[in-house]
Amino acid sequence: MTGFALSRPRRSVLYVPADNQKALAKIPTLDCDAVILDLEDAVAPEAKDDARETMRRFLRERRPENCDIVIRINALASEWGTEDLLAARAVRPDAILLPKVDGPRDVLDADAALDEMDAPAGLALWAMVETPKALFNLSATAELGRDPAARLACLVAGTNDLVKETGVLATPDRRYLVPWLLQMVAAARAAGIDALDGVMNDFRDAGAFENECVEGRNMGFDGKTLIHPSQIEVANRTFMPSASEIAAAEEVVAAFARPENAGKGVVAVGGRMVERLHLAQAERLLGKAGR
Ligand code: COA
Ligand code: MG
Repeated sequence: MTGFALSRPRRSVLYVPADNQKALAKIPTLDCDAVILDLEDAVAPEAKDDARETMRRFLRERRPENCDIVIRINALASEWGTEDLLAARAVRPDAILLPKVDGPRDVLDADAALDEMDAPAGLALWAMVETPKALFNLSATAELGRDPAARLACLVAGTNDLVKETGVLATPDRRYLVPWLLQMVAAARAAGIDALDGVMNDFRDAGAFENECVEGRNMGFDGKTLIHPSQIEVANRTFMPSASEIAAAEEVVAAFARPENAGKGVVAVGGRMVERLHLAQAERLLGKAGR
């Protein structure tokens, strides 16, 4: 288990280009669980310095309180990476999202740099999974989530870059991406950290977006990364446990809490076998539902 709030909701996580003042100003009115202020792909090379400054000013003067704040920096190896990390550390986000993470080394380097900057222990790292190398190093990278000192709290699918880097065809049903997405969820679960599904670019197609949210949820993702405010409501609804799931989870918790079941590994609930693994699953679900 990490030292980070594993069970807080991350149903809807919206990218906001850090140099887009209009989009930044909109954040306090939005109902997303977190925003990712993006210094990387959403910002043109010649606008990097401006974006960093705009983000800094925004968070100093009008820091939103309605959602978690995550900052996506440019790769540490790039010409902007170190300045981005310094700026991000200074404005105290909830997490820093690392792009193009190939393996554990990239996370450990960022962690070491943050330690050197005296960053608080509670500042988490999130890692984009968007390169072919990252796919082969998935379990080793995710495994860092077991050590709170390494800060890793979440894997984020970078589906646009994966399509670009691997050459797979992007189809509406994501058939060539799904095997990798499932690997990501498995790696995150093995390490006890969160996993977020990739974005859907076509933000005007509400029906297709809803299908993709349901697919992401069925694969086990904790939530979806978004690019447009119109996608928030559907993601919140889809990734929120339903009333019947909550009721079933509460029943499981109540069953194991009964004195006669203390110390039992398996009990019957409503004619179904329920083991302690189901208790853990129920507690995780209730955590996500904010219970
Ligand atoms: N965050 C916050 N506000 C956003 C937003 C976002 N990601 N995307 C759009 N908005 C705002 C717009 O500023 C506009 O605000 P207004 O009502 O004050 O005018 C409103 O929502 C409606 O926007 P709309 O006109 O429909 O879209 P657009 O043409 O302005 O922007 C995009 C379309 C795709 C350019 C924009 O949504 C965007 O930049 N998304 C994020 C892209 C990104 O970060 N990519 C990197 C990771 S994949
Ligand atoms: Mg990317």
